[in-house]
Order: sequence, then C-alpha cells, then structure tokens
Amino acid sequence: MSVMRAVEGLPYPVVFSDDAPVDVTRLIAGCASNAVVVADEAVAARANEIAAHLSERGVEAGPVAAIAGGEESKRWESVAAIHDALARRYAERSWIVVAVGGGMLTDVAGFAAATYMRGLRWLAVPTTPVGMADAAVGGKTAINHALGKNLIGVYWDPVAVVADVAALATVPRRSFADGIAEMAKAAIVGDNSLLDELGTLPRLPDDAARWVPLLARAAAVKAHIVATDPREQGRRAELNLGHTVGHALEKASAYRVSHGEAVALGLRAAGTLAHTVTGFSLEEHRRILAVLERHGLPVYDPAIDVETCLAAMQVDKKRRDGSLRFVLPIRVGEVVWGHEVSPEAVRGAVQMLRRPPADGW
Ligand SMILES: NC(=O)c1ccc[n+]([C@@H]2O[C@H](COP(=O)([O-])OP(=O)(O)OC[C@H]3O[C@@H](n4cnc5c(N)ncnc54)[C@H](O)[C@@H]3O)[C@@H](O)[C@H]2O)c1
Ligand SMILES: [Zn+2]
Repeated sequence: MSVMRAVEGLPYPVVFSDDAPVDVTRLIAGCASNAVVVADEAVAARANEIAAHLSERGVEAGPVAAIAGGEESKRWESVAAIHDALARRYAERSWIVVAVGGGMLTDVAGFAAATYMRGLRWLAVPTTPVGMADAAVGGKTAINHALGKNLIGVYWDPVAVVADVAALATVPRRSFADGIAEMAKAAIVGDNSLLDELGTLPRLPDDAARWVPLLARAAAVKAHIVATDPREQGRRAELNLGHTVGHALEKASAYRVSHGEAVALGLRAAGTLAHTVTGFSLEEHRRILAVLERHGLPVYDPAIDVETCLAAMQVDKKRRDGSLRFVLPIRVGEVVWGHEVSPEAVRGAVQMLRRPPADGW
C-alpha cells in the first residue's frame, strides 16, 4: 500500500497501513539516519520487523526497547528506561523515536521523546483500536500520577502516525471493546452515521479489515477538532465526552474497569445528564446504549462505589476552576462542552450507573 493520508486536517500524515515496516521506513528514510524503536512487549516481534526493515534501508535502528504492557507502565520508570536506551546509543537530536504499541505505549514513548534533549522527533505506530482511533492522534503525551491519570505530560506532535492494520489480528478482545467505546464517543461528538455502522461491526478480530474505515472516521473526528484547537483552549474539550465520569470510575475501581468500559459507563451518564439540559432524546440515548451493549461494553456496574468515584472526580474539579464541567450530547453528532452540572445531578447520574437502564435511561 502506498502512503496515503487517511485523515486530513493535521500538520502530519495519519495513515492506515497494511505493511507498516515498509510505510514507516518510507516516511523516515531520507529525514533521519538513526531510529530508536520503543515497543509494548506484546508487539515486540512486530517492532523487531519494523527495526529490521529500517536498518536494511539505511536507517540504523539498533535493538528494540520493550516496555511491559499495561496501564501500570505509564510511569517514570518507563520514561527512564526509554531515556536509558537513547543515552546508551548516544542518540542525537536528528534521530527519531518510533513508538509501536497501544495508547499506553505511544503516550509514554511520545513523552520520553519530548523530554530527551529537549525534544526528539517521534513517529507513532498504533497497534490497538484505541491507539488508531484516538490516542496516537493529536499530540497529547503523558504518564500517570498516583493522584490522577495523565497528570504529567506535554503536547508533542508525532511526525507521522502509521496505524499497523496487521497488528489488529492479535489484539485482545477487551481492547476491541475499548476501541468501540472511543469510536462511539467520536460518533456522538461529530459523526452521526458512524454510530450505526459501529453497530454492524464484527465483534472479534476475525474481520479486522472492516474496522479500518471506521477507525479512520473516528480519527478524522478527532483530527478535525484538534486542528481547530490543538492546545485545548476551547472545543478540544468535546473529546472528553464520557471521560469526566469515566476517568473517575477507572481510578475508583483501581483500574479493574478498563478505559473503554469506563468511557461506556461515562457515555451513559452524559446522556442521562444531557436530557434535562440539552433535551437529548431517549431515542438517541438508546441508539448509543444498543451499540455499546452489542459489543459487550457495560452500561451499568453494581460494583461502582459512588463515594469513591465522586472523590476521584474532585481531581478533575481542582484541575479546572472549582466546578465540574461536562460535555453533553445535544444529539448524536453534536455536543456542548464546558457545561456546569450541579453536584446533586452528578451524584444521581453515578448512582444510576449501578443499575440497568430503567425506562431506557
Ligand atoms: N493521548 C491521547 O490523546 C489518548 C487518547 C485516548 C487514550 N489514551 C491512553 O491510551 C491508553 C489506552 O490505550 P489502549 O486501549 O491501546 O491500551 P494499551 O496500550 O494498554 O493496550 C491494551 C493491551 O493490548 C496489548 N497490545 C497492544 N497492541 C497489541 C497487539 N497488536 N496485539 C496484542 N496485544 C496488544 C497491550 O500490551 C495491552 O495489554 C490509556 O493509557 C489512555 O489514557 C491516550
Ligand atoms: Zn479515552
């Protein structure tokens, strides 16, 4: 496949490639003489193929630096391990970091690249649906702090994003569901018909190729918004739909609930909160819940500890101006952001998440 821009609007190409070693090399050869390939251990073999191809074509790649998979790896030790790999090879400012993995890995490796010698270039090779539809696009890099997710990070755009379509074949089932949650978010934010198409996707990685155009559409929603507001001064906040409650649920469960599962629950909470504020309809809400449930995502969880979740949300609150602000759907494809919601309403919405939808809500 030739390198074609699958997603417009950003200052760097975002492509979906069925031959990532070739396309990564094509994008790097001629602009960097050396690369340091950093990979999630789960895709280390794939990263080795990319490194080997780079070296064959004159971009010296050296050994792959592998980071253990999982959200726990979004911490300083991983950043230090990547910096060590760069220092041991006496990396220079003209080198490039190639990050191969899901959202965890591209967030960490992007951050390590941004902070080494005041910023090395990096190229993202997302290998999960969440990575392709969302995390690798938009230049946010970060690690977690004990008090909150993604608290330490910088904006640092990659030079390109090459989604490794072949890697979808090995993605764990839970990650596919996580991808659906982020794609559903993108649909609600800005692509009405994408939502119904998500409902028709195969559940397992069997027919991964069918996911590609929809992953690209979700990434395009993000790219369009990021292009108009790269540093989240305003409407980029729309992309946090479902995430205010979602992040709190994720943290309150000590990450037993995955990011996508938490976002699915957060999308339901946003829908219920929106009803009285924006007139968001029950029909639209049901459309969303049906897609989430079809892919095995939770829309309720009796194990939710309401108080722990509300306490976790205070970190979000302190990060803003002392009030909890939400992104709320008006209809599928259009949202309002920065909407202040009363603490009682938030408590009610979180309590509701402990039970299956009643009367559709
Ligand atoms: N920067 C952003 O804008 C942004 C946006 C959304 C999410 N994120 C972050 O992304 C992370 C979630 O990303 P994710 O869902 O990709 O999770 P992940 O990176 O943790 O990957 C999920 C699991 O799949 C494994 N894996 C990755 N690729 C694989 C493959 N091809 N085959 C087999 N196993 C594979 C990983 O080892 C891990 O166990 C979170 O940390 C979240 O905060 C960032
Ligand atoms: Zn997310």
